Amino acid sequence: MVNASLTSDEIAEHSSAKSCWVIIHGKAYDVTEFLSEHPGGSKIILKYAGKDATEEFDPIHPPDTLDKYLDRSKHMGEVDMSTVTTEVRAADPFETERQEYIKSRPPLEQCYNLLDFEAVAKRVMKKTAWAYYSSGADDEITLRDNHSAFHRIWFRPKVLVDVEKIDMSTTMLGTKTSIPFYVTATALGKLGHSEGEVVLTKAAHNHNVIQMIPTLASCSFDEICDAKSGNQIQWLQLYVNKNRDITKNIVQHAEKRGCKALFITVDAPQLGRREKDMRSKFEDNGTSVQSNSGESVDRSQGAARAISSFIDPSLSWKDIPWFKSITNMKIVLKGVQRVEDVIKACEAGVDGVVLSNHGGRQLDTAPSGIEILAATMPILKERGIQNKLEIYIDGGVRRASDIVKALCLGATGVGIGRPFLYAMSAYGQPGVERAMQLLKDEMEMNMRLIGAPTIADLNDTMVDARGVALHSTPIKDTLSISAYDPLVAPAFRSKL
Ligand SMILES: Cc1cc2nc3c(=O)[nH]c(=O)nc-3n(C[C@H](O)[C@H](O)[C@H](O)COP(=O)(O)O)c2cc1C
Repeated sequence: MVNASLTSDEIAEHSSAKSCWVIIHGKAYDVTEFLSEHPGGSKIILKYAGKDATEEFDPIHPPDTLDKYLDRSKHMGEVDMSTVTTEVRAADPFETERQEYIKSRPPLEQCYNLLDFEAVAKRVMKKTAWAYYSSGADDEITLRDNHSAFHRIWFRPKVLVDVEKIDMSTTMLGTKTSIPFYVTATALGKLGHSEGEVVLTKAAHNHNVIQMIPTLASCSFDEICDAKSGNQIQWLQLYVNKNRDITKNIVQHAEKRGCKALFITVDAPQLGRREKDMRSKFEDNGTSVQSNSGESVDRSQGAARAISSFIDPSLSWKDIPWFKSITNMKIVLKGVQRVEDVIKACEAGVDGVVLSNHGGRQLDTAPSGIEILAATMPILKERGIQNKLEIYIDGGVRRASDIVKALCLGATGVGIGRPFLYAMSAYGQPGVERAMQLLKDEMEMNMRLIGAPTIADLNDTMVDARGVALHSTPIKDTLSISAYDPLVAPAFRSKL
């Protein structure tokens, strides 16, 4: 029997494993029977038993989660929120400092490049959110090399080319776009901004940029589709579920909703160990985790690992024909890391690959996308198969000069992840739009200075990539060093 207006005291009576209610968005839910099934474990729910759990629930669970996975009989009714007092927590020095940083945040106009957003985000984001977004796998060698690999490639500019008019528009997977980058899929948008991924959707629309929707978005897939305008293009990133019926439903639903391409993530049969994320004690801080598919998830430390155990580690080349049979969307493999697999992808008849190491979050010391690209294109050209599929790269792209280098080496476009998350977390939609505009401004200048009035004019004679595979960078760029957050050792419980 549901109650129209429950009070805080009534909810507080259900604060144990025997009877456990929680408040989410002003409504009470009886989750007693769900405790043992909760993908993030029961401990985290019990921490909020009899209390308001909204703040912790929101970033991780798409809004339709409760309707989808908790029987209606357990929806106990509206809560009179005037009876609910906010719990006063002991002052957390990090949080106090963060609030100060938020108050003194630099004006948006003072962000002149993508790394500036990272430097601001580091100070103004919640500890757990920063840890989840910024972390890479193991020693973060790949994470850092993704960025520095671009510095091992030098330009060979052409002069006396008429560059009065610059056209940086291009076509990616059959659709025209204003500039050859896209917003790549990054999970858990609400950790950085209360509105989550739709902020990226709106900014992408205003700049005619393509957005890839992540399987593990904080917003529901439909919310992200609903937020698009006009002919805006979206792609779907897919983590393949062990239950292929769930996978098929997700894919076919995305196609119905107008997604133009399916990016199957192939570099994550198990999620990497991201120690910053683990160290931020995600679970202890009270954030539980559930995948969009509602499947059971790992309970070990860190947000990333907790959301990923539904992913099928048995996914193999044998599955590609099945994907082709269930959708007419273009199919792209995201996370290819060697030329042999690019050739296999050609043979499998997919439409493209993303040369990517998942932003350095998976196998540490895996090569950067740009390095793989430089090694791959000559071999594809030798075999005459360079036009059989489109090649994208992602990882460490922070300047339009990085985009230009990738295009010179044969990429159709590049994906950008963290910079847009940081811009969103620090400044919301205006931040993301400024980041996109900065890239456009840089791109125009770079194309002019390299002597390429259109994207088609960029070619491999315009770069010297001989050093890209040499993994030591004598020159360090100071912006990146100041924005980079070094790994830390375990903290002592008290200072001696
Ligand atoms: C916070 C975060 C979450 C991510 N989530 C996903 C994901 O859910 N699926 C996926 O295929 N890749 C995911 N990625 C990887 C990105 O799609 C992309 O490969 C990477 O961010 C590119 O590197 P960059 O951040 O240096 O631009 C994630 C990356 C980050 C930083």
